[in-house]
Amino acid sequence: MRRATRTADAFICASPIAAAVLKGFVTFEGIDGSGKTTVSRLVAETLAARGEKVFWTGEPTHLWTGEAVRRAYHDDVGPVAESFLFLADRAAHQEEIRRHVGAGELVLCDRYTDSTYAYQGARLEGVVDRPIAFLRQVTRPWAVTPDLTLLLRVPPETGLRRIAGRPDRVRFEELRFLRRVAKNYDGLSKSRRYAILDARETKDAVAAQAIVVIERRLRARHR
Ligand code: TYD
Repeated sequence: MRRATRTADAFICASPIAAAVLKGFVTFEGIDGSGKTTVSRLVAETLAARGEKVFWTGEPTHLWTGEAVRRAYHDDVGPVAESFLFLADRAAHQEEIRRHVGAGELVLCDRYTDSTYAYQGARLEGVVDRPIAFLRQVTRPWAVTPDLTLLLRVPPETGLRRIAGRPDRVRFEELRFLRRVAKNYDGLSKSRRYAILDARETKDAVAAQAIVVIERRLRARHR
């Protein structure tokens, strides 16, 4: 499924059987081929079917800024311009995220700030000093902070093998680069906001792990 249609067919479901108990902002992160899109969608469907109010979204967005970002990863505009395009797309996404979080829903987002820290953090090496710190500094004042970030962790070789047959490959999907991205994710995931999932398993097993962590962390938060 294309991300461009994601928000249009994002689902909000309230079943009469169960009361919604999970709310907050959860992001899914990982290298290409880690299965974030499939797993986040599966988690969204499973929780929605249980009566949770779920809003499933992702980045790059369905907005025109998301289209600009997609152009940027096909035609190289350079690491600085590319970084600010990803940030602009995220800034444009804020209003929608705030609205759904504010309505007490569980917002699940396929890629968010940590994607920029991990990918553009690698792209900006040697261009600016301490790239991740720089990107954080320009993000923090306006971005909604996730309550929980799930890192779907797979070795870069596995990620690349999984996406080998895709027709719409992007420029970042190259082993040496993905190793740097994976290393950045490993550093970022030391934060308490993170939970690490073993994404070498099947999508159902990874989704099950994700649900356990979401329930544990978000229930505790809202008790
Ligand atoms: P991906 O999740 O693969 O989206 P889609 O398959 O719908 O196009 O993201 C596309 C690429 O963009 C992926 O290689 C990661 C990269 N990316 C960044 O470099 N920085 C970011 O901030 C985001 C959101 C994505």
